[in-house]
Amino acid sequence: MKAAVLHEVGGIPRYEDFPDPVAGDDELIIEVKAVAVENVDKAIAAGTHYASEKYLTRLPLVPVFDGIGTLADGTLVGFGNPRLPYGALAEKTVVAAGMFVPMPEGFDPAVATVLGTAITGMSITTAAGFTPGETVLVQGATGVAGRLAVKVARLLGAGRIVATGRDDDQLREVRAIGADTVINTAVSDEALAQAFTDAKGDGYDVVLDYLWSRPTEILLRTLVPESFAFGKPTRVIQVGASAGPVLTLAADSLRTSGVEIVGAARGLTPETMEKVYGQIVAWARAGELTFDVEKVPLSDIEAAWQRTDLKGRRLVVVL
Ligand SMILES: NC(=O)c1ccc[n+]([C@@H]2O[C@H](COP(=O)([O-])OP(=O)(O)OC[C@H]3O[C@@H](n4cnc5c(N)ncnc54)[C@H](OP(=O)(O)O)[C@@H]3O)[C@@H](O)[C@H]2O)c1
Repeated sequence: MKAAVLHEVGGIPRYEDFPDPVAGDDELIIEVKAVAVENVDKAIAAGTHYASEKYLTRLPLVPVFDGIGTLADGTLVGFGNPRLPYGALAEKTVVAAGMFVPMPEGFDPAVATVLGTAITGMSITTAAGFTPGETVLVQGATGVAGRLAVKVARLLGAGRIVATGRDDDQLREVRAIGADTVINTAVSDEALAQAFTDAKGDGYDVVLDYLWSRPTEILLRTLVPESFAFGKPTRVIQVGASAGPVLTLAADSLRTSGVEIVGAARGLTPETMEKVYGQIVAWARAGELTFDVEKVPLSDIEAAWQRTDLKGRRLVVVL
C-alpha cells in the first residue's frame, strides 16, 4: 500500500510503499479516508512531545494516531491508536476492536476528522462552568482550535469575546467570525499588558488559553488588583502551549486576583463528552459551525507536512 513513512526522529514523512497491515486476533483493518495533521503529530514525530519516546520505538513507521476511515462493511468510523508501526497516514491501518466509533452520517470525512478540535472550545462549559453573557478571552484565536473556540463561544452565548493573535490580517478574520475585540500580542510587554487591561471591561470571566508562556504570564499580571479589593474571579482554562510550555506565576497573581487555573480536561467524562460532541455535530449539521480545512492528497505529504501558510485552516490528508 501507499503510506507516509517516517524514517527517523525529526524527519519528514515520505510518500512510499509500506507493507499492508494484517489484522491479528481482535483487530480490524481500516481503509483510511481522511486524517487531520496537527501540531501534536508533528511534535511526536519530531521527538519533542512527551509521548514521543513511547511512539517512536520502532522506525520506520506511519505517523498520526487518529483519523477517519471505513470498516470492511463500509461503516464510516473515527479510529485511534493504530498498532505500531502502522498509523493513520496510509491507505490502510490496523486497530484493536473497540478503537473506533461510528461517525455521524452525512459528514465529509475531511470535516469529520476536525470535529473533535471544537471540543476544546466547549471546555468553557465543561471545565469552567461558563454561563451565557459572560466575557470570554481566547488566547491564540488565529489558530484552528482558537478560531473554532471563538465560534463556539459565540454560539454558547458569550456576552463579549476578546481574542488574541500576532497578525493583524488574521485578527481581522477572527473579528469577522465573532470576536468583539482583538489584541495583537506581538508588541512590547507593557503595550500588551495595557491592551489586556483596556479590553477587559468588567473583567474576563473565562480565559481559554491555547498559548501559555509570555502572553498568559503578562495577562495574569494584569489581573492583580491595584489596591486592596475583592478580585473578580477569572477562570483560566489551559488547553495549549503554542507560545511555550512554561510561565512564571507570581504569588500575588493568584492570591489577590481571584484567578483559578484549570486544565481543559476538567469536567470531561464519557457523559459530558457525548453531550458536547453531540452539540458540535448538531451545530455542524445546521451549518452554524463551520470548519476550514485544507485538503491534500497523501502523495503530497512531504510538502504538506512542512507547510506554514495555513492560517487557521486544518491540514487534512484525504485518501
Ligand atoms: N487541535 C486540537 O484539537 C487541540 C486539542 C488540545 C490542545 N491543543 C493545543 O492547542 C494549541 C493550538 O492548537 P491549534 O491546532 O489551534 O494550532 P494552530 O492552528 O497551529 O494555532 C496556533 C496558535 O498559536 C499561535 N502561536 C504559535 N506560536 C506562537 C508564539 N510563539 N507566540 C504567540 N502565539 C503563537 C498561532 O498564531 P499564528 O496564527 O500567528 O501562527 C495560533 O494562533 C496547541 O498547543 C495544541 O497542541 C489542540
